[in-house]
Amino acid sequence: MRVNLRKLTLIVGVILFLWLLISYSSVIEVPRSISRKPVAAQIENKIIKLQKQMADQMADSNLLLEKVKKQLKKPNVLNEDTFEGGEDDLEAQPVKSTAALVLPVLVIACDRVTVKRCLDNLVKFRPNKDTFPIIVSQDCGHNATYHVIKAFTDMDPTIKMVQQPDLKEITLPRAKVKFRGYYKIARHFKFALNHVFETLGHEAVIIVEDDLDISPDFFEYFLGTYPLLLKDPSLWCISAWNDNGKKEVIDMSRPELLHRTDFFPGLGWLLRRETWFRLAPKWPAAFFDDWLRNPDNIDGKSCIRPEVSRTYSFGKVGVSKGLFFDIHLRNIQLNYDYVEFTKLNLTYLLKENYDADLASTIYTLPEMTADEVMMNVGTHKSVKVMYGSAKSYQRAAKKMGLMDDFRSGVPRTAYRGIVSCFVRGRRVYLAPDFTWTRYDPAWG
Ligand code: UD1
Ligand code: MN
Repeated sequence: MRVNLRKLTLIVGVILFLWLLISYSSVIEVPRSISRKPVAAQIENKIIKLQKQMADQMADSNLLLEKVKKQLKKPNVLNEDTFEGGEDDLEAQPVKSTAALVLPVLVIACDRVTVKRCLDNLVKFRPNKDTFPIIVSQDCGHNATYHVIKAFTDMDPTIKMVQQPDLKEITLPRAKVKFRGYYKIARHFKFALNHVFETLGHEAVIIVEDDLDISPDFFEYFLGTYPLLLKDPSLWCISAWNDNGKKEVIDMSRPELLHRTDFFPGLGWLLRRETWFRLAPKWPAAFFDDWLRNPDNIDGKSCIRPEVSRTYSFGKVGVSKGLFFDIHLRNIQLNYDYVEFTKLNLTYLLKENYDADLASTIYTLPEMTADEVMMNVGTHKSVKVMYGSAKSYQRAAKKMGLMDDFRSGVPRTAYRGIVSCFVRGRRVYLAPDFTWTRYDPAWG
């Protein structure tokens, strides 16, 4: 007990001493605050030094990042630089790596809940979510359609939705009121493409309307043909659609066959950023697709289109109503044979090859009339049918079951005035009987 008391006294003594020490130190705080300035200055200097070191490090890291990016791009042929070696590169280096490539799919939607059918197929056939993120742009503020799309975005973070914000009615003179839908479509496309290229900063985009089905090789088609768009400055788009895609006028045994065309097909098409930035400032208020069919607006450039369509429109209910659907769209044949486009040599589609081939083919082919073609006269596997005027073109086209209309003087699917089709088991070229130099806007 005694010992404990002594210990207690000792502890109390120590506490007392410590208390005195703390009290004393608080008393001498005043002189310490005087010396704070130089210490603060020192710390400030240190921070500045550290900041500088960090900035230097950031600069180094950015440099390194740029180098890595460049290296990553190198083995990927879907990069413009790698095509500089010439067209043989397209053949020698089919798409080996798509790791760095992002080709978003832009789905244009409005007020049709059947956008589900379109999205289901995109999701089903999409080979890679990172290469092909899906962006659904919705116009029209239609609630039920919004919820259909939201079910997809909720399920998958690589599917995003954006709303076209300007829903005000477009005021039009009475004569144009019936075309209001086409004004809204053009407004929506402008917003959606700006969103993809300006806001999201993508390099290219595949545009799909909400009433399109796609073929199983739809994505492979665009992957395989995208290098052509990068390589050939005379091309401005790749389309999945053949305007003359009915089974009676195509060669179903050639699903791998592609063509050049001066007639913008739309309906599932690939557009590059730089092209959009050229089109955007002059984008029309309505009928954007026909506007894109005027050679003046696309600098006389062409598109690639397939022999067998990679899209099918199921949009009977739509802005252009059902008649066009019943007599035409309904019968377009969708491709079901999977073609590995990324493994094919597509250099025959480059302008210098294609134009020379086409010219010599046409020159050497035997000539027939459309009637003879339909009556299956002779045994030639390829023939030409010549036309000299809009009228004679339309007569021959109609006879063979082709679309016979023009936009800005360009016949559907025409390339340099020539329409290639496949009728009664043979390839037929509908070709001008005069030296073609340009389309005549007075035709049609
Ligand atoms: C037709 C073309 C279509 C083109 C359009 C533009 C065919 C088969 N279709 O449209 O490729 O883009 O002309 O002139 O040749 N939409 C809106 N806002 C609206 C109304 C529609 O964004 O207010 C969207 C639809 O969701 C759809 C697209 O615009 O994605 C086309 O509309 P649709 O009703 O299908 O009209 P089409 O007559 O097919
Ligand atoms: Mn449609």
